[in-house]
Amino acid sequence: MDLYEAMSTLRAVRRLRPDPIDDAIIERVLTAATWAPTGGNTQPWRIVALTDADKKQALQDLYKPHWDSYLPGYEARLSHMPEDARASSIKAMDAGNYLAAHMHEAPLIAVFCFNPKLMTITDSELDRPSVVGGGSVYPAVQNFLLACRNEGLGCVLTTLLCYEEAAVKELLGMPEDWYPCAHIPVGYPVLGGHGSIRRRALDQMVRYNQW
Ligand SMILES: Cc1cc2nc3c(=O)[nH]c(=O)nc-3n(C[C@H](O)[C@H](O)[C@H](O)COP(=O)(O)O)c2cc1C
Repeated sequence: MDLYEAMSTLRAVRRLRPDPIDDAIIERVLTAATWAPTGGNTQPWRIVALTDADKKQALQDLYKPHWDSYLPGYEARLSHMPEDARASSIKAMDAGNYLAAHMHEAPLIAVFCFNPKLMTITDSELDRPSVVGGGSVYPAVQNFLLACRNEGLGCVLTTLLCYEEAAVKELLGMPEDWYPCAHIPVGYPVLGGHGSIRRRALDQMVRYNQW
């Protein structure tokens, strides 16, 4: 599909059918991830492509309590939102509830992992949270999401399972220096799937020549 169309309709799809995905399609979307740039081209990330029913169930069991704890804050924010934003946020919340209860049914959960020892993290000494390391992982995540979009597959980047890093590492047999940072359920959409997105206008996001 047209790249701009794919980008401008890539939204979180949280209701996924359990129907299997062809191996060739899975290989294509995984390959798209490998094309992403990384600092020094070290490619300090890997994907654990989970199709095993028990392991997917274990992830869902770990995910749900964190979604449930996240909900009250989300609900509290709803009351301060303008009407149109509130309506779409309520839909997203319902979809989030669905995902938390059904994550294990997705035919594929792609767990992106990273190894900080393979990264030159140029902002790690600054007195604020470091983000540069993520720059060598999340472009691959975005390539993967766009490739799923291109294949008609629903998907959503989730990070709540980072609260369960130790348990996820153990479940997946991850080596000591590797850590999970994105858990992406993938499957054919139950409803309409990807579509229109709500984002700030360009003039709110970009300044020319000076902040
Ligand atoms: C860094 C990051 C972490 C996210 N973590 C979660 C998550 O744990 N669970 C979830 O349901 N969605 C998660 N999302 C999806 C966002 O909530 C979603 O992309 C955002 O609300 C915009 O919605 P839209 O993509 O449908 O337009 C995450 C997205 C990003 C970029």
